[in-house]
Amino acid sequence: MTTSTNTLRGWPLFSLIAVLILAMSAAAIALQPDLIEGLRSAIRATARSSFALFLAAFTASAFAVLVPSELSRALVRERRFLGLAFAFSHFVHAVLIYAYGQLNTEFWPARSVVDNTPGTVAYVFILLMALTSFKGPARLIGATAWKRLHVTGMWIIMAVFAYANFKRIPMSAWYVLPFGIACAAVAIRLVGKLALATKRRQARQPAARPATAA
Ligand code: HEM
Repeated sequence: MTTSTNTLRGWPLFSLIAVLILAMSAAAIALQPDLIEGLRSAIRATARSSFALFLAAFTASAFAVLVPSELSRALVRERRFLGLAFAFSHFVHAVLIYAYGQLNTEFWPARSVVDNTPGTVAYVFILLMALTSFKGPARLIGATAWKRLHVTGMWIIMAVFAYANFKRIPMSAWYVLPFGIACAAVAIRLVGKLALATKRRQARQPAARPATAA
């Protein structure tokens, strides 16, 4: 049976998301009368598209264990391309930040090293994770280092998303929503890991002997 989750996969899925991100960014810029405000709006929009894609990759395996379905299995299968689409969305976020900084000359001087550190660290991980999602670099670093890099990177990126939304709550109460979603995603991932560990432990245990009649 051919379903939409079966047909849209791999690079076509990545390409579709990439085109949508570019169209969304262009629309965000075009809809503002001022270019600087347009760029700011597109920066915010790409932060949100990145967050949605990252959430899908971050929770995929937990959902596959907790609520197995065609969709959760498709999310696990396409995790690599969702991760790459997230990296693309954040690459666009970076390009827009660069353009914004060029036009608004007060932007970078107003930011301290402390302001830039979480985002920069996350970007280093995004780059390393994107590069090592290809066979050659992955083989070069080996399975153990790959796992360490990707697990650490996932948690660092999630922490930066949670922090970036949390620090904006005083600006607008709406940021409670993405911050709450980030907390829920962490809980879902941890519960998923726990459920998987329990499942594996049970699978290793020998089957209980049937009770014999007295
Ligand atoms: C040094 C690197 C970074 C810089 C300079 C930067 C800069 C910005 C700027 C200028 C905005 C728009 C601010 C506004 O108009 O309110 C923004 C929004 C945001 N950024 Fe970044 N960013 C960086 C990296 C990151 C990273 C790595 C993440 C996540 C992993 C991230 C997540 C966000 C979020 C969640 C928002 C708020 C979006 C919204 O309003 O809903 N940023 N960033």
